[in-house]
Amino acid sequence: MSNTHRSSFSGKIGFVLAAAGSAVGLGNIWRFPYLAAKYGGGIFLLVYLILVVTVGFTLVTAETALGRKTGQSAIGAFSSLSKRWGFLGVLNSVVPIIILPYYCVIGGWVIKYLVTFASGGGSEAAGTGFFTGFVSQPVQPILWLALFLALTLFVVLGGVEKGIEKVSKLMMPALLVLSVIIAVYSITRPGALEGLKYYLLPDFSHFSFMTVIAALGQMFFSLSIAMGILIAYGSYTPKDIDMEKSVKQVELFDTSVAFIAGLMVVPAVFAFSGGDQAALNAGPSLMFETLPKVFDSMGAGNVIGFIFFLLVLFAALTSSIALLEAVAVTFQDRLGWSRRKSTLLSAAGAMVLALPVALGYNVLSGFTLLGFNMLDFFDFVSNSVLMPVAAFLTCIFITRVVGIETVLDEVKLSSPFKRQRSFTIILRYVAPVCTLAIFVSQLLSSLGVISI
Ligand code: PHE
Repeated sequence: MSNTHRSSFSGKIGFVLAAAGSAVGLGNIWRFPYLAAKYGGGIFLLVYLILVVTVGFTLVTAETALGRKTGQSAIGAFSSLSKRWGFLGVLNSVVPIIILPYYCVIGGWVIKYLVTFASGGGSEAAGTGFFTGFVSQPVQPILWLALFLALTLFVVLGGVEKGIEKVSKLMMPALLVLSVIIAVYSITRPGALEGLKYYLLPDFSHFSFMTVIAALGQMFFSLSIAMGILIAYGSYTPKDIDMEKSVKQVELFDTSVAFIAGLMVVPAVFAFSGGDQAALNAGPSLMFETLPKVFDSMGAGNVIGFIFFLLVLFAALTSSIALLEAVAVTFQDRLGWSRRKSTLLSAAGAMVLALPVALGYNVLSGFTLLGFNMLDFFDFVSNSVLMPVAAFLTCIFITRVVGIETVLDEVKLSSPFKRQRSFTIILRYVAPVCTLAIFVSQLLSSLGVISI
C-alpha cells in the first residue's frame, strides 16, 4: 500500500463543505434549470426532490461509507473488500479522468465571461455570435482553460485540509449569498411571475417517464455519484462523524443551490422571452448565449453578469478541485507517488486531454466520434455509459458480494442509522432498477430512438 501520507478533513464541517463543493457545480447552475424548464417545471422539481431523498441519499451514503471503511480511494476500496471486484474501482476512477478535461474547458469559458463582464463588456457578450466567435478561435480558449486548471491545481496542492477544505469554507457560503441576490433580482423583474409559477407549481399533465429519467440522470451528475469522489472523500472522514446527518446536509446544500439556480434562470428567461419555451430549451447555450442577453436587457447587465459568473466560477472550481483530487489520489494510492507528484502529473494529463476538447470547436471541428464533438463525446462516455454502469455494479457489489452489513456497520459506528430500513430496500431493489433505466434510456436516446 501507499507509503505516502494521506491527509484528511479536520472534522464534520470539512467533509460536508468539501462534498457539497464537489456536488455543487456547473450541473446545478446551467443543467438543472434548463432540464427543469424542459421537463415540466414544478413536476420535475417534485420528482427530483423525491429522488434526492431516496435513491440519492442511499447511494451517497453507501459510497461514503465504503471510503471511510477502507480508508482508500476507489480502486483500493473495492479490491480490499474483494480481489475480483477491483475492476469496479477502476471503472469509478476512470470517470473523473474523463470529466476533468472538459470541465476545465467550460471553466475556462466561465473565466472569460467573468473577465468580459468585469471590464464592462456585458452588451458585447450579449451580442449574437459572441460565444461562437470566442470558442472558434484556436488559442484563446486554451489560455483560459489553462488558467482555470492552474487555479484548481493551486488549491489541490495546498492539501485536503489547508487547500480543499479552506477554499470550500470560503466559496460555498459566498456562492449561496450571491445566488440569492441574483434570484431575488430575477424574480422581481416584470413578467417573471408566470415563470415562477411554471417552475414551482407541479402540473401533473406535464409528467412523463422521461421526467423521471432526466431527473435521475441529473441527480447522479449533481451529487457526483459513481465517480470515485465520494469514496475518496469518505476515506478522509474521521470515524466519529455522524454520516447520516452529514450526507443529508450535503444533499440539502446541493439541492438548494440547484433550486435557487432555477429561481435565477427560469423566471428571468421567461420574462425576457415573453414565456417562450424555446428560449429555455437552449440547453448548454442557455448560460453562455441566452443569459447574457437576459442580463443585458435588465439594465444592470454588467454588475449582475459579473456576480453571476463569479458564482458560477466558484461552483465550477470546487467541483474541478474534487475531480483533480480524485484523479490524483488514485495515482497516489496505486503507484505510491507523493501527493505533490501525482497532483502535478494528473493536472498535466488533464491539460493534454483538454486540448482536443477545446480544439473541437475550431481546428478539429470536423472531427467527430460516434457523431459527437469531443466535449459531447467525453460527456456521453462518462455520464451515460460509465456512471450508470458503475453505480449499478456498486449496488450489486454491496448487497450481493460483501453484504449490506459492511456498509450499515460503518454508518452505525458514530450514530444510530435512522433510515436503515429504507436504505436497505432502496440499495437492494430500487437503485439497481433506476441505474439500469438511466443506462438504457441514455443509450436509446443517443441512438436517436427516444429523445431526452
Ligand atoms: N457535481 C458536479 C456538478 O453538478 C459535477 C461533478 C461531476 C463534480 C463529477 C465532480 C465530479 O456540476
